[in-house]
Amino acid sequence: MRPMARRTFITSGLTGGVGCLIGRRLPAARAQGADSRIEVLPAEPIGTIAPELHGHFIEHLGGVIYDGVWVGEGTNIRNTGGIRQALIDALRPIKPPVVRWPGGCFADSYDWRDGIGPFDKRPRRTDFWVDSRPSQNREPTTGPQRFDPNRFGTNEFIRFCRLVGAAPYIAANVRSLPAKDLYQWVEYCNSPAGTTTMADVRAAGGDLEPYGVRYWGVGNEPWGCGGNFTPEEYATEFRRYTAWVPRFDVQLRFIAAGPNGGDREWTTRFFRQLSARGPGALNGVYGWALHYYCGSTGDRNATQFAVDDWYDLLARADRMESLITQHWSAMAESDPEHKVKLIVDEWGAWHAGAPDMPANYLWAYPGTLRDALVAALTLDTFNRHADKVAMANVAQMINTIHSLFMARDDKFIVTPTYHVFAMYAAHQRAQAVRTECSAPPVSFTKDGRSQTLWGLGGSASVRDKTVTVTVVNPHATEARECAVSVRGATIRDGRGTVLSSADLRAHNSFDQPNALAPREADVTVRSGAVVQILPPASVTRLQLTVS
Ligand code: AHR
Repeated sequence: MRPMARRTFITSGLTGGVGCLIGRRLPAARAQGADSRIEVLPAEPIGTIAPELHGHFIEHLGGVIYDGVWVGEGTNIRNTGGIRQALIDALRPIKPPVVRWPGGCFADSYDWRDGIGPFDKRPRRTDFWVDSRPSQNREPTTGPQRFDPNRFGTNEFIRFCRLVGAAPYIAANVRSLPAKDLYQWVEYCNSPAGTTTMADVRAAGGDLEPYGVRYWGVGNEPWGCGGNFTPEEYATEFRRYTAWVPRFDVQLRFIAAGPNGGDREWTTRFFRQLSARGPGALNGVYGWALHYYCGSTGDRNATQFAVDDWYDLLARADRMESLITQHWSAMAESDPEHKVKLIVDEWGAWHAGAPDMPANYLWAYPGTLRDALVAALTLDTFNRHADKVAMANVAQMINTIHSLFMARDDKFIVTPTYHVFAMYAAHQRAQAVRTECSAPPVSFTKDGRSQTLWGLGGSASVRDKTVTVTVVNPHATEARECAVSVRGATIRDGRGTVLSSADLRAHNSFDQPNALAPREADVTVRSGAVVQILPPASVTRLQLTVS
């Protein structure tokens, strides 16, 4: 079933997926003086919106762990047990459900034993990312970004998760450690104190209670940095690494490393190979991890871009929709009952690092309003596929790629993307329902080619008598006057929140930390429906009380 139908009038050059129903003639909307329309269909449920769709990802890459998450105890920067307090405080209100660690590519060079036990006994290792610096014209530096001090290891990661109320998701090393290490890392984390030597080592570090880690990634990007495997080879490794891992009363959820973007063959061949062992073979796979980054083209500048680059990035972010449906159908060839769910454990807009960020921070830049719209339309896409996607992790939480936060020494800010996560938290655990949108599509030119993007994209969820609608207006200059209705119900009351700016490049900085923040918007209810102005270049959340 298509989550949002395109009713009519779609031009053949339309870019991207099914952001919302897109039309040119809008009889119902016109009748109310509006130029666009959103109709929520509560009778057509899609699935419960897993909180895990708002998951996060941290890796020892540039300034993510050291400086970002970990500031250490002997510092003036406020911290709890070495973890940046400002980060803890900012994360709690957005209810982070899960954090993935330690990578990323770093995971397949990481020896978890390096990061346990007394700090002064932990070895210093060459950082996996050290050689990427020249490609970014960055000077090599000393410090944790060059030689990993292993100060932030498993115990510290788990404490961070506990402080922010998130479940840990650990990605194990398949490229450079044997299967025994996954087994023993599970034992270290999950076996009760006093039972195994590993549990005693954990307890000696202060953590008597087992961690109960459920999510275990089996490698990362095995088609590339994770070992250059073929799908068949990786399927064999996956089976070997996950066979007979002790449970310690924890229902382990193994996540297999899936495709890069649209590589359907990776999906088809992995599933074929694994299921060749019989129908039960897929029982050991909880999730199939898709990675997809959209990024700016040209000089890949995060904050300096033209209007066509604005649309181009949004259109490429919108590709998430077709990636989900495409891999879902490839999985169905071997898994018709869909025992295995999709996990988009790396997604985001990836630009070049800003020159004014420290040399040892890789791909660090302050995300703009454009990145916030990428986040919003991506989270809407996940809502529309709540029946297929079990978890998604934005890459990455802080100081790199599609960050929610920027930190440097004692300075700390939230990005516009953070505000999107805050606005969308209202969807967590609600019932996603099909929603139809109609709006004039947007036209733009990219590389001399004329392209089209939908005019409004969004999603809706229902919890008791509250309907939450989130919607992106991608148009750079035109507001939409949008008639919003809930089929079979009467809207009694509504509250609105809007993130927008006249400046497409608007972003927060250490000097202007609140340059871009959401504001409340009036919602006028008439005859059981709403007509809402959706500003240009905006993300809007409507919380509607219905009867
Ligand atoms: O998020 C940065 C990197 O992108 C990750 O380490 C890797 O998995 C992906 O290629």
